[in-house]
This record gives sequence, C-alpha cells and structure tokens, in this order.
Amino acid sequence: MKRVTVQTLKEMKANRQKVTVLTAYDYTFAKILDEAGIDILLVGDSLGNVILGYEDTLPVTVEDIMHHTKAVARGAARAMVVADMPFMSYQVSDEKAMENAGDIMKFTGAHAVKLEGGTRIAGLVKKMTDAGIPVMGHLGLTPQSVHQFGGYSLQAKEVGEAKVLLEDSLALEEAGAFAVVLEKIPAELAELVTVRLSIPTIGIGAGPACDGQVLVAQDMLGMFDKFVPKFVKQYANLKATIDKAVKKFITDVNTDAFPASDHSYHMNKEALERFMAKLDKELEEIK
Ligand code: KIV
Repeated sequence: MKRVTVQTLKEMKANRQKVTVLTAYDYTFAKILDEAGIDILLVGDSLGNVILGYEDTLPVTVEDIMHHTKAVARGAARAMVVADMPFMSYQVSDEKAMENAGDIMKFTGAHAVKLEGGTRIAGLVKKMTDAGIPVMGHLGLTPQSVHQFGGYSLQAKEVGEAKVLLEDSLALEEAGAFAVVLEKIPAELAELVTVRLSIPTIGIGAGPACDGQVLVAQDMLGMFDKFVPKFVKQYANLKATIDKAVKKFITDVNTDAFPASDHSYHMNKEALERFMAKLDKELEEIK
C-alpha cells in the first residue's frame, strides 16, 4: 500500500482530488481511520480538549504530542501522520523549535509537523523545510491564540484581516509549507486563498472550496458533545451507542447474564471429578 506523501498531496491538488484529514490520538482509532482510507491523520493539540480534558490546547506539551504520535504512527499504514507542535514549543526561539520538531520527527514516526501562524513564523518554516521537515501551516482561528482572540469567533471577516490572511498564506507557501489549514474563516476568503495557492488548503469551518477538509474525529463521530461548533457534521452518534452498550453490560453483570457459558473456560469433566475427590479426601483427613 502506497503511503500518502507531500508529493501525493501536490498531485491531488493538481487533479482536483479532495484531501481528507481526521485527528487521531491513539493506535486503535488510527488503524480504523487509516483502513477506512483517510489521507492524513493529524495528531492535533486538540488532544488537550478531547483526550486530556483541558479547557483549551495551551497545556499540551511536546511529550504529550510525542507519546500520542507514536501510537498513531503504529496504526497508520497508508495515511500521512502530521503532529501538531504545541503552544510555546516553537515560539521561544528558532533553535528550540528546530530541536522540538527534530525530536518529533526522529522519535515518533510522524511524517510532518503543523504550526500555527503566517508571516510571523515564515522564517522558521523555511528553516524546517530546508532541514527536510515537511510543515503544514494553520491560519484563521488558531486555537493556541485563544486568549489573544478572546474566544473562538469567526476570523478574517473584515477586509484588513482578510488581506493579512491571504498574505500569510502566500508567505507560508513561499517558505515551503506543503499545505495550510484554514480554520473558521468565511468560505469566500477560503476559496480565494485556495485558488491563489499552489499547495492544498485544508478547511475546517472554511467552506467547500478548500482542497481538503479536516475534522476532529470525536466531533464527527458524535463522541464529544461538550461543545459542537456549527462547522461540525456528526456522521454518527457513538456516544449514544457506547452509552447503550455500557448500560447493557452493567445490567448483564448484575443479573448474571454475563459472562455466559460461551464466554467462560471449562475444566474437563474427568479432571473436575478427580479434583473434587482430592478435596473431599483432604477434608476427611482434617476431620
Ligand atoms: O488540533 C487540531 O485538532 C487542529 C485541527 C482542528 C485543525 O488543529
């Protein structure tokens, strides 16, 4: 089976073939999504919200991302694995950023890293790509800046911000990024950026014109209902399915319906008889 690479994505954009991306944080999910045919598995720092139960992505560490990326990489036979660089793992200095990206690439099995930001980080993106580290950009609503934005609202809806976003996307392309995530921006702007860029745009809340779409797997499977953004389509309601299964398990255990004979291991009849006889003999001797 041929691995999805940076080259594959270039060809997909040229052939107007859509790129599908879902987040994954563990081996079992990665394997299911990979076998279903997803092109890219993103070990997003949404790990913080979805798996670790934080309020936002800020507390996620490089160690957290590395731990989960290793598991995802073991489950991905075809998909490209992209690891998010967490908050403050690439902002302090380019040297520290290169070290962190290098560790992620060396020790986890990731094929690329993702960074939030545009012109501001273009120099760093160039250093990474020059060093052979494929970089995916992320513009628009960048959750690591939630406190600067004051929430998770729609981005780049005014002319000035839209112009900056377009410039940022061109700066990322120029710096060598192989794709760029566009999060929660007007569909019209995402379309314009998609037409202008030669690299694929991956939308999340950015309309249908993007070259690909990304969603958090737990959102689209209906497992995470703490907050469901407008841009999420729920393709299943796994929370309800799991809830039903767990309640049935509890009932079955309480009523001795589980485990049934089929789920149990049995001693052969003759061994059981000999064992019982031995116990009886021992009891006799004690008396
Ligand atoms: O962390 C994440 O899951 C992401 C995607 C939602 C794009 O950055």
